[in-house]
Amino acid sequence: MSLAKARVLKGATPPLPPGPPYACSELQDWVGRSFQLPAGDPRLPALHKGGEAPTPQLDNLVGAVKYWQEHPEWMDIHDPESPSHEDRMLERALYLRRWAPQLDAARRLLDLGGGVGRFTLWLLEQGKEVELVDPDLRSLWRAVSVGAATEGKLDVHWTTGERMPPLAPVDTALLVEVLNYVEDPAAVLANVHRVLQPGGTLLVSVEARWGWAAALDAHDGTLEAFFTDGIVHQPGDRWVRTFEREAFAALLQGAGFEVEAIWPSHYVLSGPFELAAGPIDEAALFRYEDLLAAHPISERLNRAWMAVARRV
Ligand SMILES: C[S@@+](CC[C@H](N)C(=O)[O-])C[C@H]1O[C@@H](n2cnc3c(N)ncnc32)[C@H](O)[C@@H]1O
Repeated sequence: MSLAKARVLKGATPPLPPGPPYACSELQDWVGRSFQLPAGDPRLPALHKGGEAPTPQLDNLVGAVKYWQEHPEWMDIHDPESPSHEDRMLERALYLRRWAPQLDAARRLLDLGGGVGRFTLWLLEQGKEVELVDPDLRSLWRAVSVGAATEGKLDVHWTTGERMPPLAPVDTALLVEVLNYVEDPAAVLANVHRVLQPGGTLLVSVEARWGWAAALDAHDGTLEAFFTDGIVHQPGDRWVRTFEREAFAALLQGAGFEVEAIWPSHYVLSGPFELAAGPIDEAALFRYEDLLAAHPISERLNRAWMAVARRV
């Protein structure tokens, strides 16, 4: 589960500094290493080796294995040469514009479904302590590599949000674009509630129904689904539950969180206005997002919802 149990696939396993979590400044020998970890969810090792998904939702992990094999350059968003680097970092800036006050105050965080560490890396650079949990082991390898040599402290856990490892309490949890893909969003939120200290902060985002349907990466033949349950399933590739604002708010409240704010987001990058906006920098992105969120026609076509909630 923890990096404490990791064994590198080739060569001797480097020693770990005192922990967990581990001072990243002493993880240099882990850079570029692939390692095995005990899986918190027993279905993950077979999926990691290319097996079929036992449930439709786990097709997301089948898709991830396939993309790491066929298009690693798209998965490795930290590499400035990656075709997805610039957009993913601009989208991160969109989140940080709303969440910076909460993140500044945070000390010890959970990044659940944190992937290759788009947020974990930023947090480690600010000297925070991060527990990164993800069911895609290849993403965890990459996250440890990029996190090494930063100011913070890190531990990683190979499991799903439904089967969380035992963790010491955190003051802040991030769940960024994750609840759309899980089998049981309420169970995942209950696990986050358990690990967050009372009064702790949840920073959460999900994919939004109508903006998803209108985005450039929508799949052929999925339109009907948006009028029924808003679930898109591409076998062997992805499974996405899209949300409307009310359902998102109800999910958070039902799991024992008080919602402080929900913002519509992602109109431009990954959203329906991507082509019309063309290549943009951060200032243009913020300006377009604000314009589109304020207009009575475009406001409902956001690709994502982002929220701040408090653990009751
Ligand atoms: C769109 S990516 C978002 C990654 C990261 N949070 C970010 O914002 O860059 C979705 C992530 O959810 C993870 N995921 C999929 N199913 C999950 C589950 N059941 N529990 C936790 N994470 C899951 C995937 O492995 C992937 O890293």
